[in-house]
Amino acid sequence: MKTVHPTRPEPKCKTGEVLLSIQGLAVSYGGIKALKGIDLEVKRGEIVAMIGANGAGKSTTLKTVVRLLPASGGSIHYDGQNLAQKSVEETVEAGISLVPEGRAIFGGLTVKENLELGAFNHKNKAFMAETVEDVVGLFPRLGERMKQEAGTLSGGEQQMLAIGRALMARPAMLLLDEPSLGIAPKLVQQIFEAVARVAASGTTILLVEQNTRLALRYAKRAYVLRTGEIAMSGPSAELAANEEIQRAYLGG
Ligand SMILES: Nc1ncnc2c1ncn2[C@@H]1O[C@H](COP(=O)(O)OP(=O)(O)OP(=O)(O)O)[C@@H](O)[C@H]1O
Ligand SMILES: [Mg+2]
Repeated sequence: MKTVHPTRPEPKCKTGEVLLSIQGLAVSYGGIKALKGIDLEVKRGEIVAMIGANGAGKSTTLKTVVRLLPASGGSIHYDGQNLAQKSVEETVEAGISLVPEGRAIFGGLTVKENLELGAFNHKNKAFMAETVEDVVGLFPRLGERMKQEAGTLSGGEQQMLAIGRALMARPAMLLLDEPSLGIAPKLVQQIFEAVARVAASGTTILLVEQNTRLALRYAKRAYVLRTGEIAMSGPSAELAANEEIQRAYLGG
């Protein structure tokens, strides 16, 4: 993205300092413990991946960060602010945007309308138009389809739209839930290149991915989640070289 308009609001912490800090986070669905006390940190400017099998608790973690789910224990701090005291809307205002699993775009609305809905925290017309331009710069395919009904986009294009819509809020931190899910390899590549550009422009990213190979290629560090617990964590290169990871997640 262009840097004419900085991400808003700019975090108080500096690049390389902890932006998101999750400590001892526990989440239950009724009697089922989905997260059993996880610790996770993302420093400003990093791409960090969270990998793990179906049902490990990855989506639960992201949803709890943005307050879509309540925590039963532990804490989540973003740029020094306790997120437990915020509403879902306030987490967006604080600078966090979630691209949910399954994309959740509005199929009956056009691409442009979907994008504009993402800018609900700033309604200035000129600023919104420039943000749309930035998103189109990132995903030229969306630019060619502004008036198309979103429901008629291909799966990959819908994922681009979902990411674009989240970027419309000009987040300082982007949470991505399985951006590669069900998408053709060629579009997956384009999406990850775009994500890398978003990161290069200064946006911090927490990436949930079942495609471990892809996640470890783009992220600097990763956490391996297993049935609600962090089983392993470290630099992506180290995890990629780990035999257990290769066997369980890389088909090696
Ligand atoms: N609304 C819910 N009600 C009850 N249990 C739930 C609910 N949502 C998730 N769970 C359970 O919580 C656990 C963690 O689910 P979660 O969606 O976080 O996993 P995940 O790591 O994102 O998996 P996937 O890779 O399949 O998306 C699973 O056992 C799941 O069945
Ligand atoms: Mg999930």
